[in-house]
Parts: sequence; structure tokens; C-alpha cells
Amino acid sequence: MTTLKNRRILLGVTGGIAAYKAAELTRLLLQQGATVRVVMTSAATDFVAPLTFQALSGNPVHVELLDPATESAMGHIELARWPELILIAPATADFIAKMRIGLADDLLTTLCLAAEGRIAVAPAMNRAMWDHPATRDNVSVLAARGVVLLGPGSGAQACGETGPGRMLEPAEITAGVSCLLARGRLAARRVLISAGPTREPIDPVRFISNRSSGKMGYALAEAAGRAGAAVTLVSGPTVLPVPAVAEYVPVETAAQMASAILERAPSHDIYIGAAAIADYRPVVTESGKIKKDQEAMSLQLTRTQDVLATLGGSGSRPFLVGFAAETDRLEEHARSKLAAKHLDMIAANWVGGTAGGFDRDENALHVFWADGEHHLPMAPKQRIAEQLIDLIADRYDEKN
Ligand code: CTP
Repeated sequence: MTTLKNRRILLGVTGGIAAYKAAELTRLLLQQGATVRVVMTSAATDFVAPLTFQALSGNPVHVELLDPATESAMGHIELARWPELILIAPATADFIAKMRIGLADDLLTTLCLAAEGRIAVAPAMNRAMWDHPATRDNVSVLAARGVVLLGPGSGAQACGETGPGRMLEPAEITAGVSCLLARGRLAARRVLISAGPTREPIDPVRFISNRSSGKMGYALAEAAGRAGAAVTLVSGPTVLPVPAVAEYVPVETAAQMASAILERAPSHDIYIGAAAIADYRPVVTESGKIKKDQEAMSLQLTRTQDVLATLGGSGSRPFLVGFAAETDRLEEHARSKLAAKHLDMIAANWVGGTAGGFDRDENALHVFWADGEHHLPMAPKQRIAEQLIDLIADRYDEKN
């Protein structure tokens, strides 16, 4: 089991007798696949030598705020930005008090103040210190700020007393950290999603469009968000409520959709093209309403830009996921779009008849990639979206 594979954890060790258990904690975190950097307070070095943590973690141990040796390798601000989680274990009563008031009088307190990721603390102190109103108050202020409390446990203490205040066992802390970081497969990934139809104007009151409702793309935006991604949703006209995403970009025509996507794609890790972008638009958009003064009329159409194919042919491109709506020979068409547009994956579905697809609440998908495929049987679009996001995360992880 490697529940913490490639997760970046900064372990802060403060000066308590439980500091020796932080060595075992380091070993367990690494065993789960995490990358661990250790920062110690100078009091902690009285209990355990930095060399112990350096040998275990395979990384230099930082103690001083402005240590020329480590500062040049990774400065303290860089160090504060590096971790997904700062885990203080053991966290003494003194250190918790410093965190509460925002002191920055050594490296570890400074990192806690400058950190942009999450912070968890595993308190370790004498029972009376834990029960003291000052500590209770400090802990509740930190919790209100979003600091996660792991423990403390209860039991025999180094001072000979028994009661709450004892640091949780390293295995318990590791399990807590795994839970904390298990929030999403796409954490810290930027995902760009297009959804809905486009409208290609014929005159001020008429347009060419299609039956796409946007439901699949919106469900994907929500599922990607739940998986921890920062989502940008570029949407054609729909009647759906705007989901909670990092950026929502409403567009109308294929040209507007193309420029919104192409402009943003370089700053995203994954692009999912769920929009039904018109393949053709009228050559001329009349500025006045067309009158019915002719028995018959014909519209001349011209091709629009294929957004996915453009991205597939560009140098630095996000991981590309296309959709294919087909009425016949589904796998053949989907695989040929996968190859022709240089996609990483394609999700194909039947349209027309009773097969799901457009403007329905349910869908079934056949997902193809170069050397594999997966069938997602008919289910509500929310469920299909979650499964597709999982498949995308699998393939994305494999590619990267
Ligand atoms: N697509 C695109 N830009 C277009 C048209 C389509 O990026 N101008 C994307 C869609 O968002 C979808 C994929 O291409 O992810 C496939 O769309 P689809 O309409 O099924 O296929 P086409 O490539 O347009 O081919 P055809 O219409 O001939 O089946």
C-alpha cells in the first residue's frame, strides 16, 4: 500500500520526549510513498540528532532560519511553499502557543506562518498542560483556522502520570495523514473542460446549434472539482446552474469557444473536450433579419476550427481527452479520432435512438486510449463523470 505516493510532507519536530517517535513516523510516511523533509526546532535536536532524520528521509534536515548551507539549497520561503502538508509531530504546548499567536522566531514557526498548504499537529505534552485553559484555547483557535489536530491520545506519560496529552502512535498519525491527503486524485491539477453546444448565427434571430445540453461537461466539472482539481469551465449556452469552479467562461459561437480554450490550455494540465462544438458555421451572418421573400434558400457553410485537433498538433499541450458522439461503428470512429487528433483518451457514446447521449440524465461511455479501453455502463451522468475522472487520473498518472 502506498497511500501517500509522491505526496510532499514537511515533518516539523519540536522539543519533547516523543521526538524519538518522529523517527519511526518518518519511516512509515516514506513507506507509504511520501517525500519527507524534516525541520527541527533547536530544542528537538537535544532529543534526537538531525542526522537520524537526514539518514531516514534522504534529505537534509533544516534547523536554522538562515542557515547558509541549507538556505542556498532551498530557501525558507521555498521550503514553506514546497509541502502539501506541514505535520508537526510532536507538537509541544510551547510550539502550539507560538503558532496561535503567529510567532516567527525560528525556522519552523516561520514556515507555519508562511505556509500555503495545510498544517496538522500531533500534540504531545503532560496531562495538566494539555488540560490547561491556555492550551485548550490555543488549540481551539488553531482548529478554527483550519489546522488539523491529530490526537493527542491518552495513556501513560513520560512524567509518570496517566491521562490525555500523549502523542498518537506513529502508525495512527500516518493513517490520519493518509486520510487527510486522500482528498482527491487530481489535487493541485488544473483541468480545463468545455461543455454544451455552440450557436452559429445566421442572422440576428436565428442560429445553427445541436442537441447538447451540457449536462455531461458540467457533471465532469463537478467531479473534477471533487477530485481536488482547480477547474476552468468553458461553456456554450445551457440552462444549467453554474457549478462551483475556479473560472467559468460563458461563450456562444465555435470561434469564441476555440479562442477561450486555446488561450487557457497552456496553463492547464488536462483538457476534456465535452462540448459539442459546431463543425460548420454560416459563411455570412446577415446583419438584418432574413425575410421570407424566396420560395427556397440555401445556406453556405464553412468549417470551423477543430479545437482538439489544434491542441493535439501543438507542442506543449495538456493531457487531451476528447468525446465522440456516434450513430454507427462507434469504436472505429472513436479510435480514428483518437489517432487523427493525437488525443490521450477518447470517450465515445451512442447518440440518436434511445441510447442515451444528448440531453439525457444518463449516459454510457466506451473509453479508448492507445493500448486499452474501458466500458462504463449506463448510469446517471454524475456517476459516469466520477468514473471517467478516475480513468483520466489513472492514465494521466501513468503518462506522468
Ligand atoms: N471538437 C473540437 N472542435 C470542433 C469540433 C469538435 O474540439 N470544431 C471536439 C469535440 O469537443 C469532441 C471531439 O472533437 O471532444 C469529437 O467531436 P465529434 O463531433 O464527435 O467529432 P468530429 O471530430 O467533429 O467528427 P465528426 O463530426 O465527423 O464525427
